[in-house]
Amino acid sequence: MSLTHGEKTEILIEALPYIQQYEGTTFVVKYGGSAMTDEALCETFAQDVTLLKKIGIRIVIVHGGGREITDTADRLGLATRFVSGHRYTDEPMMDVVQMVLSGKTNKDIVRRINKHGGGAVGISGIDADLLRVRRHRPDGEDLGLVGEVVSVNTDFLHLLADHGSMPVIAPVGVDEHGAVHNVNADTAAAAVAAFLRAEKLVYLSDVPGVLADGSLVHSLTRASATRLMSGGAISNGMLPKIRSAFSALDAGVTKVHLIDGRVTHSILLEIFTREGLGTEIVHDSEEEAA
Ligand SMILES: Nc1ncnc2c1ncn2[C@@H]1O[C@H](COP(=O)(O)OP(=O)(O)OP(=O)(O)O)[C@@H](O)[C@H]1O
Ligand SMILES: [Mg+2]
Repeated sequence: MSLTHGEKTEILIEALPYIQQYEGTTFVVKYGGSAMTDEALCETFAQDVTLLKKIGIRIVIVHGGGREITDTADRLGLATRFVSGHRYTDEPMMDVVQMVLSGKTNKDIVRRINKHGGGAVGISGIDADLLRVRRHRPDGEDLGLVGEVVSVNTDFLHLLADHGSMPVIAPVGVDEHGAVHNVNADTAAAAVAAFLRAEKLVYLSDVPGVLADGSLVHSLTRASATRLMSGGAISNGMLPKIRSAFSALDAGVTKVHLIDGRVTHSILLEIFTREGLGTEIVHDSEEEAA
């Protein structure tokens, strides 16, 4: 499909109010799923975040890396076990998480973004004490070396953004005794968004959004989220996303988006078009007003 000059300029001009609205604000993007493993999607993601940064949005990326961690653990003969959507992490697994996540995965993302001029800087939660954690035991469950974020060094993130850099964060953190912990990337992204009081928190995943009875939930309220979680319709990897989305809203993040990372340029479509693509998680008051 080729567009006329008129159509092209119309599309560009339609983006202007959004650019004005978001210039100077912070978006935290949780990068995971196919968007991180499919070659073509990796490239378009790198272009998208670079474009957003170039129009004046302060982009912070927190990435997952589930599949690569599991594959490497397999090759090393380590079994992978998930408990309520969290990777059970003993010391050998923690080594793999660090090698893969802070090493290979983080630098691959940075390299791609920088190919497009995005000015990415890869760091883990250990650098500059970025993510301080404590042992995470959801409902008393033992997950091993899994942490929940208690503080984020926002000064350091501001320093990078003020310098024109785009932080790309591997979600591992250190506890008060200096022990390294694995942090679920969704909860890490939400904590970073919360501490930065981000305008938006965007989760890129391998689903169209939150699904209930097979159909897409366009706007998710706390009440329906609670119902879907207790009924089991929201489970596994979706649990940490939804739980952390609401804690980010409570901390002052304006809006959380859950979008399909398998759709090319899905972030741009979500941000620059009125309809939006996936599931929006908003403050209860907004939902009531809508
Ligand atoms: N109600 C729901 N709607 C949509 N997905 C759901 C729901 N309940 C459970 N899920 C599961 O959650 C998964 C998404 O979380 P998952 O942790 O697998 O991916 P990710 O967080 O995008 O990637 P990564 O963990 O590698 O960073 C979906 O693939 C789906 O299987
Ligand atoms: Mg996940």
